[in-house]
Amino acid sequence: MQTGVMPQQTSDPIEAYSLVEMDGAAILVVDGTSADTAVMAAAAVLGSRLRAYRQPVTIATNPTAGQGVFFDRTTRTVNADSAAHGPLHVDGYMMYGQAYPDVIFLLCSEQAPNGGANFIVDGLRLLTTLASDPAQRELLRFLCQYPLEQSSPTGVQVSGPIVDRTAGGRMAIRCHQHQRFPENKPIDAPHKGLLDGWRAVTSAAAAEAPRFRLRPGELLCLDNYRVFHGREAYTGTDRLLHRIWSWTDTAFGTPDPRTADGRADDITVVPW
Ligand SMILES: [Fe+2]
Repeated sequence: MQTGVMPQQTSDPIEAYSLVEMDGAAILVVDGTSADTAVMAAAAVLGSRLRAYRQPVTIATNPTAGQGVFFDRTTRTVNADSAAHGPLHVDGYMMYGQAYPDVIFLLCSEQAPNGGANFIVDGLRLLTTLASDPAQRELLRFLCQYPLEQSSPTGVQVSGPIVDRTAGGRMAIRCHQHQRFPENKPIDAPHKGLLDGWRAVTSAAAAEAPRFRLRPGELLCLDNYRVFHGREAYTGTDRLLHRIWSWTDTAFGTPDPRTADGRADDITVVPW
């Protein structure tokens, strides 16, 4: 089964939501490339489901090559490492722990001259593939039941299985480079082998997933509980995107706006 996703395009926000429900991803073509455009388009896609969103964050490029990635809180800018291949991941687990955003948006403002292609892996299809293979029973059991550390060492602590469920029963599948065994628990070889197996399966899926380059005015919409995403390295320093993290009525929860990121204005709670 093909687990990579090539997101379908539309200029209708309601259709974009339908596509996200069907495929886990969509591209909404919008009229503009500003952060405000991204906020308005995200709200139009989610409609009355929207409960909260984080103020836009700019994804730019670290002008100093080789310095890696860093977040500038003053300008709300992620300075990406253009030389690095961005590994497959879900967003927001470091900052929000279990209450990580369930729908995320990336509006392309400027694309790189070369490279910078995105790729998406459908976690749900990946699980279905594993479930259909009798040889993968132990891996599937591990994914659904074994509690792992699910944040970065400096992030909001959270432990849980890779395949989790909200109180309302929505499945949430996590994939990121920080998934690891709890420090207070001895690691046995079979379980280590299963985590290595999950990494191998997701790496292979990432390698096979189709690549696509967002163009200015294209808003990538992702079900962050279902699909994993990454991007290729790129050239130049002009690549620019606006990112919106959002929480709907079926997310694990919404972040407390008084404490999230230490900024009272970082999270906007939508009255409903
Ligand atoms: Fe991301």
